[in-house]
Amino acid sequence: MKIPLSKPTITKDMVEAAIYALQSEKLVFGESVFKFEEDFAKYIGVKYAISTNSGTSALILAFHAINITNKDKVISPSATFISTISSAMLLGAKPVFAEINLFDYTIDPTHVRALVRRETHIKAIVPVHLYGYPAEMDPIMEIAKERSLYVIEDAAQAHGAKYKGKKVGSIGQIGVFSFYSIKNMTVGGDGGMLVTNDEEIAIIAKKLRDCGRKGKYSHDMLGYVFRLNTINAAIGRVQLRYLDEWNRRRREIAALYDKLLSDIDEVVIPPKPSSTKEPVYHLYVIRLKSKNIRDTLGAWLEAQGIQTLVHYPVSAHLQPILRKLHGFKEGMLPKTEIWSKTVLSLPMFPELKNDQIRYVSEKIHEFFNKNIHINKEWIKRGENWFQKLI
Ligand SMILES: Cc1ncc(COP(=O)(O)O)c(C=O)c1O
Repeated sequence: MKIPLSKPTITKDMVEAAIYALQSEKLVFGESVFKFEEDFAKYIGVKYAISTNSGTSALILAFHAINITNKDKVISPSATFISTISSAMLLGAKPVFAEINLFDYTIDPTHVRALVRRETHIKAIVPVHLYGYPAEMDPIMEIAKERSLYVIEDAAQAHGAKYKGKKVGSIGQIGVFSFYSIKNMTVGGDGGMLVTNDEEIAIIAKKLRDCGRKGKYSHDMLGYVFRLNTINAAIGRVQLRYLDEWNRRRREIAALYDKLLSDIDEVVIPPKPSSTKEPVYHLYVIRLKSKNIRDTLGAWLEAQGIQTLVHYPVSAHLQPILRKLHGFKEGMLPKTEIWSKTVLSLPMFPELKNDQIRYVSEKIHEFFNKNIHINKEWIKRGENWFQKLI
């Protein structure tokens, strides 16, 4: 059996929509682009949605639209994909990293509060709804309100996830989504979306993504070319109609994994849905007791035909460019560093079959039952170190 980590669903109606757009619409800023934006805004529950050619572009637009400059600092978790913060750094901002909690891997509001007390010139906080699990938004919004800070939600992995009944992305001043090819919905290639209820931000973001254009050859801002292609928007519109059903299936898959894996002491399963949080399981991520066990389990599953991946093996603050620019070092964010060393993503996509999930679970059980890999010394050391930190 060969089981990939992820697999985008492409249906006949997506192909037909793409062909129609290609043959009948303008290739750039065709009708599908604006219809997709309208549909997406309605789906998230916001007034404005501005499509872009990637999630990273949408993040740059967001930081640019709130006028981030080299005088500003931005708070974000380091447990994320680099774009969350590199997009602000491109505009000159200094990154200030907040810890995550090891329960759901999202930003720790207590640490954010300590950071805003300690640091000056903070302009924005960027909670990340990592793996499709909603970050704890209420305290973040409260801190931001007290200090007049912007909240930009990085919802790149969380299309359709809900926090207290609201779709993520609609809670802060700006929400940002990615349609990269393995996300919960894609556009048949790269793409992104910025959402907001703020008219001024929407107007600026629209101009910035289209070269600062006021009229056809009139530019009253310096901008980028971050437009989403018509053909991608046409595919995205169709995908959006499937999104809720795909997310439902993702939750079903997660519940089956939870049930099958919960008897293994060595495996920490992801946080479950709760009365306030409805996750969408962009990824199903387990945590092991040490890097050694994580890496050996990954290699063992690979050998059984099961693809796994680590999201992410290096946290943002320890990326070579951040070390170089800011001198960040190991030890700065202990929980985040444990996260990057111990998490493992298992196969998760709507078309994954129940017997494939059972096979993955059987192979994980086998790994631990037979002690296939493990250096006993490592487990002992791993356990003590692990338990101190949770
Ligand atoms: C949390 C997070 N932020 C930002 C991005 C950037 O999105 P994109 O790859 O579409 O530029 C991604 C996607 O890879 C992501 O997972």
